[in-house]
Amino acid sequence: MKRHPALDLIRQRISVNRFDPTFEVDDATIRDLISYASEAPSAYNLQNWRFIAVKSTVRKRALMAHAYDQEKVVDAAVTFIVCGLLEPQRGVRAAMLPFRDDGHIDDDFLDEWADEATATYRDNPAMQRDEAIRSASLAAMNLMIAAQAMGLASGPMIGFDPSAVSTDFDLADTEFPVMLIAVGRIGPNNWPRKRRRPVDHVLTIV
Ligand SMILES: Cc1cc2nc3c(=O)[nH]c(=O)nc-3n(C[C@H](O)[C@H](O)[C@H](O)COP(=O)(O)O)c2cc1C
Repeated sequence: MKRHPALDLIRQRISVNRFDPTFEVDDATIRDLISYASEAPSAYNLQNWRFIAVKSTVRKRALMAHAYDQEKVVDAAVTFIVCGLLEPQRGVRAAMLPFRDDGHIDDDFLDEWADEATATYRDNPAMQRDEAIRSASLAAMNLMIAAQAMGLASGPMIGFDPSAVSTDFDLADTEFPVMLIAVGRIGPNNWPRKRRRPVDHVLTIV
């Protein structure tokens, strides 16, 4: 059977450390990347994420200072702050309204959906945080695969000071930075692909 090109993209992606610092991306490309990132699934279709595209040199330098001076933050054309959103139940109705408006569900179903989400998250801050990290991480992976598909490279980062990033980039009290993702054109002297643990070591079929 012919292998779908999406499978090659998955195998080709690497975490890039060295970007071409002369390469820039336009805002249309950034919007495109985020539209693909937003196609990720999320519980109750909460879409409990937000993305800050740090593109200007001055703001990338500020972000780099909060990220242990990782130069890829500045050398990449854009570094995204992928944010997770707490209290996701507050946004669930708005997130599902278009589905109601398209006629796929009625008002009663929408109410039940929102009530269920509210019961799941309202009094459970740990669950809210877990869900924010799950959703933002799935969106982050979509973003990296979309970048790969557009001929760009990416580098995810957890090496940053979350409270400094939150303050400097005006995150709301209900938001926190889950991950940074540098995106740009690959530069020279990156590591090649790292091999993965064998499937038999990580898979149990029952
Ligand atoms: C959540 C997450 C955080 C990471 N943080 C950093 C980081 O701060 N700095 C860095 O150089 N690489 C970081 N990496 C890249 C990993 O080291 C890399 O994904 C891993 O070694 C596997 O390599 P590959 O992505 O090229 O296959 C991070 C990756 C992930 C998924």
